[in-house]
Amino acid sequence: MRLAVYPGSFDPITKGHIDILERSSRLFDRIVVAVIHNVNKKELFTLEERKEMIREATQHLPNVEVDCFSGLLVDYIVQKGACAIVRGLRTVSDFEYELHMAMMNHHMLPEVDTIFIMSTSKYFYISSSMVKEAALLGGPVGDLVPPNVEARLREKWRQRKEGKGVSD
Ligand code: COA
Repeated sequence: MRLAVYPGSFDPITKGHIDILERSSRLFDRIVVAVIHNVNKKELFTLEERKEMIREATQHLPNVEVDCFSGLLVDYIVQKGACAIVRGLRTVSDFEYELHMAMMNHHMLPEVDTIFIMSTSKYFYISSSMVKEAALLGGPVGDLVPPNVEARLREKWRQRKEGKGVSD
């Protein structure tokens, strides 16, 4: 059983992430999407909301499951018995950061490799932050996120407009 972990903050999951998952799920028996609470990022959705959105958006991928973790990624990898870490690569600017992270993880856990999947060209420019920024200003993001995520973003936009229930 070849199990891989796809870690990230997924705030929220985008069609770019789904693209990586659809393609990596063909390479492994199981993929665990591991959602992290990233203290360095201003989060819009709670961990539970993000997990729920991922579950809804990956129903067509039976070997994909969703979990969350805190602490070191390599400790989580050992705990899950995974053989690989999946990461998406969009542009050259992703490369240096990803290279350092992959090398650091490999240093701490040499038996596990990071597998990089090049983003499909139409999703090269997407990031969760850009999607959030556009959506919260009322911009159209339906081409960039799954329908369930678009609906939740629209709801956040509505709340923001009404000036209630918004966490900054
Ligand atoms: N399509 C769309 N967007 C993509 C993407 C794709 N294919 N690939 C990456 N992104 C975007 C994400 O949307 C995210 O956008 P944002 O910054 O606007 O939110 C950004 O690229 C990268 O974020 P993400 O993939 O979520 O990674 P991260 O940098 O938040 O976290 C972890 C990376 C979780 C793997 C890393 O922080 C980690 O391992 N943490 C655990 C602690 C640890 O072990 N540290 C030592 C590591 S060496």
